[in-house]
Amino acid sequence: MYRLFTISYLALLLVVLFQSYSSAQSCSATSCHQAILNNKMPHAPVQAQECLSCHHRKNQNHPILGGKSWELVAKVPALCEQCHTPFGNKKVIHSPVKDGDCLACHKPHGGAGQFLLNVREDRTKLCVTCHDPEPFNQQFMHGPVAVGACNKCHQPHESNEKALLNAPVRIVCLTCHSDFATALKQAKVAHPPVKDGPCTACHNPHGSSVSKILKEKVPDLCVTCHSAIGKKLTEAKVPHKPLTQTGGCSSCHSAHYSANRKLLPFEEKETCLNCHGTDKLGTPPLRNIKKDLEGKKFLHGPINKGECVPCHDPHGSDNFRMLRGSYPAEIYVPYKEGIYGACLGCHKKNLLRFAETSIYTKFRNGKRNLHYVHVVNNRKSRTCRICHQPHASDGEKLIDKEVMKFGVWTIPVNLTLSTSGGSCAPGCHQAFSYDREKAVVYKTYSTNQQRSK
Ligand code: HEC
Ligand code: HEC
Ligand code: HEC
Ligand code: HEC
Ligand code: HEC
Ligand code: HEC
Ligand code: HEC
Ligand code: HEC
Ligand code: HEC
Ligand code: HEC
Ligand code: HEC
Ligand code: HEC
Ligand code: HEC
Repeated sequence: MYRLFTISYLALLLVVLFQSYSSAQSCSATSCHQAILNNKMPHAPVQAQECLSCHHRKNQNHPILGGKSWELVAKVPALCEQCHTPFGNKKVIHSPVKDGDCLACHKPHGGAGQFLLNVREDRTKLCVTCHDPEPFNQQFMHGPVAVGACNKCHQPHESNEKALLNAPVRIVCLTCHSDFATALKQAKVAHPPVKDGPCTACHNPHGSSVSKILKEKVPDLCVTCHSAIGKKLTEAKVPHKPLTQTGGCSSCHSAHYSANRKLLPFEEKETCLNCHGTDKLGTPPLRNIKKDLEGKKFLHGPINKGECVPCHDPHGSDNFRMLRGSYPAEIYVPYKEGIYGACLGCHKKNLLRFAETSIYTKFRNGKRNLHYVHVVNNRKSRTCRICHQPHASDGEKLIDKEVMKFGVWTIPVNLTLSTSGGSCAPGCHQAFSYDREKAVVYKTYSTNQQRSK
């Protein structure tokens, strides 16, 4: 480009020099057009006083009243293209450039700033002579835009990228945000739209009314793509508070990348226990789950693997305690099929189905299903929690020595297991044993504290 440019410039220069050296001198030698030479950053041919490279005298009388004695040697942009390579070879051409309106931006004789512009490093003023100024005057501005460095991302004339960008969006962004690029490459888990897509899926490039120049605030931003979770946000009967509190989705997910699955900030259990490790969460306060687990001999299967979400939907659900299946909130509740979905999704579906069974539970006396006895076939149907802990216990089978609070009294269970059965000495009734192989025969059933053996 420069060679072409230099050759054409030199050729023109020779012609001009030869033809009218004295004429050019006289334009500025007189004080008439002195101002033209006073520009801070003059155009090279103007500085060299080659007025005639652009101006042609059409009338010998100059100046003449009410007429024109000079004309341009060619119309812009042809005038400029005498020395500069024409534009028009790229896919996207800036509209005023396509129209050949070079003078919409450039001062032909020189400007206050570089590149024959009347602006310096801050280009905003120039651009907003045509563009809506609103995007460049927002509450939160992107660093380079705030200082009007449009050229760090855009070409002024033409480009092969959309929006006259210097390169594809991701590359434009990651060229400056190079720490980000390195961290993203090294991360174990990357959010797909961040890994492959344009950063502008979530960020405005210029500025925004939302901090971090986001297009929308979290969680609205997230649920434009994750609409199923958006639905839970508004419709779940038991919502999870942190989703709508400050932080929103960001209190559990990184938007970009992470060392943990599902973009979690820590391992799953640790993520939950970071909040659920206090006695003061919520009113009335929820149990301190961290304390519930600490030092316990038996952890419920999924928790033993570090998981909470097989049972709780972290985004909220329609069930008590955000469980993934139905589970009654009360201690005693009339039995209906399906109400223990939260447990039976993993455990034997027929646990509570038959009064007699030899396979579906070990909690039986002979064939008599004692789960059925306690939970189903009773005027005062008990829920699982009367015996089992949901998360962890000191005793086997998730049964602690003491379980439910009954008013001010914590009911003891005192379960002991044998190879073919067990015995309980609960606070609910007299001690009973059960035996799967040789059914225990119960003599009395209510008042006597008699142990049947
Ligand atoms: C690179 C081309 C170029 C050179 C060199 C050039 N001009 Fe111009 N000049 C223009 C163009 C283009 C316009 C029309 C500007 C417009 O329409 O806004 C113009 C306009 C003018 C005008 C009328 C409007 C004004 O800006 O005052 C004068 C007078 C003028 N030039 C004088 C000169 C003198 C004197 C020189 C040499 C010292 C010179 N020009 C060198 C391109 C040039
Ligand atoms: C007679 C030849 C000639 C013509 C005609 C000409 N230019 Fe130039 N232009 C030059 C030269 C020489 C330079 C200096 C190049 C350099 O520094 O590498 C230059 C530099 C520029 C620059 C860069 C200035 C800077 O500060 O770096 C711009 C912008 C420019 N010209 C625009 C125009 C426009 C717009 C027109 C038409 C109105 C035009 N030129 C017409 C010769 C010309
Ligand atoms: C929308 C405003 C705008 C228009 C219209 C425009 N330019 Fe420019 N031009 C610029 C800006 C801004 C720069 C400075 C580029 C940079 O920062 O790298 C520039 C730089 C230049 C340069 C010097 C650097 C380079 O890229 O070679 C030349 C020459 C030039 N323009 C010529 C032209 C010509 C010829 C036209 C008309 C066909 C034109 N420009 C139309 C804004 C414009
Ligand atoms: C950090 C890079 C960056 C900077 C700096 C920047 N832009 Fe942009 N601009 C973009 C990107 C990326 C797009 C494309 C947005 C998209 O994907 O639709 C864009 C789009 C545009 C558009 C097209 C219309 C629109 O809003 O989508 C205009 C006009 C624009 N920018 C003007 C400017 C002006 C004027 C400046 C300087 C004040 C500027 N830009 C500075 C990155 C930037
Ligand atoms: C003379 C008027 C004018 C000036 C000055 C101007 N633009 Fe534009 N620009 C337009 C027009 C007209 C369009 C096309 C209509 C549109 O998309 O809004 C456009 C489109 C754009 C686009 C979008 C291109 C695309 O195809 O998506 C970008 C980016 C842009 N301009 C950046 C700038 C920047 C940066 C500046 C300042 C250096 C600037 N413009 C100065 C008139 C102008
Ligand atoms: C020219 C260099 C440059 C380019 C290109 C660039 N940025 Fe930036 N960006 C910065 C600077 C400088 C900051 C301010 C850094 C700081 O405050 O620590 C910044 C800050 C940010 C911030 C944080 C804003 C805040 O309020 O804290 C986001 C988000 C961002 N950039 C996204 C992008 C995106 C998306 C792109 C591509 C469209 C991009 N950047 C391209 C230089 C750049
Ligand atoms: C899926 C949406 C999304 C995409 C895509 C995305 N970001 Fe972000 N980005 C965010 C959110 C949300 C925040 C605010 C994080 C927060 O507050 O914890 C953010 C914050 C930032 C920040 C400020 C960092 C900080 O910690 O303050 C930078 C810089 C940034 N993003 C750059 C980028 C770049 C570069 C890309 C493209 C490679 C990108 N982002 C793509 C959603 C996104
Ligand atoms: C532009 C669309 C888009 C936006 C906006 C978006 N995501 Fe995503 N996200 C996806 C896609 C695509 C996937 C991969 C498919 C899937 O798991 O749904 C994904 C996956 C995820 C995953 C699972 C990652 C894994 O490793 O399996 C999480 C967590 C996530 N997004 C959280 C967020 C959060 C938080 C936000 C808001 C800051 C957000 N997303 C905004 C498109 C988006
Ligand atoms: C309290 C912590 C927490 C909050 C707050 C949270 N999530 Fe999640 N999210 C998780 C956990 C834990 C997982 C992993 C679930 C799994 O493995 O089944 C997850 C998984 C996801 C997934 C992947 C879904 C899939 O089935 O793999 C997406 C997408 C997601 N979250 C988006 C969001 C969005 C959007 C928000 C905000 C509206 C949000 N999350 C808020 C904890 C949270
Ligand atoms: C950012 C803090 C935070 C994180 C992380 C968090 N929670 Fe919560 N969780 C809360 C708050 C706040 C409440 C509501 C307390 C109240 O007001 O009752 C809550 C409530 C709950 C409830 C009871 C819901 C109800 O209304 O009955 C369960 C169950 C729960 N969280 C499980 C989890 C699980 C599982 C995880 C990990 C995937 C987790 N939480 C991560 C803050 C958190
Ligand atoms: C095997 C299923 C299961 C797993 C795994 C599980 N939970 Fe629960 N969680 C429950 C059940 C059932 C309840 C209801 C207990 C009740 O009210 O009797 C519950 C209740 C809760 C409550 C409310 C406590 C209160 O005050 O009543 C929180 C908070 C909670 N779980 C958090 C967690 C966290 C954190 C994890 C992971 C460390 C986790 N859960 C793992 C089944 C589970
Ligand atoms: C996500 C699957 C899952 C859910 C839901 C679930 N559990 Fe479990 N449970 C397990 C796993 C895995 C084990 C350990 C392996 C085993 O012994 O079956 C276990 C073990 C048990 C044990 C101890 C069994 C033994 O032999 O030591 C009891 C009791 C128990 N669960 C009761 C419940 C109750 C009550 C619920 C409902 C509140 C429930 N479980 C919900 C997966 C689940
Ligand atoms: C009256 C106390 C009691 C109640 C109520 C109770 N269980 Fe059990 N459960 C036991 C005992 C005792 C065992 C241990 C049986 C053995 O191994 O000898 C047990 C064992 C289990 C086991 C291990 C597998 C098996 O059946 O042997 C699961 C799973 C289980 N219970 C789930 C539940 C569920 C779900 C509920 C609520 C629907 C529930 N239990 C209600 C006392 C109870």
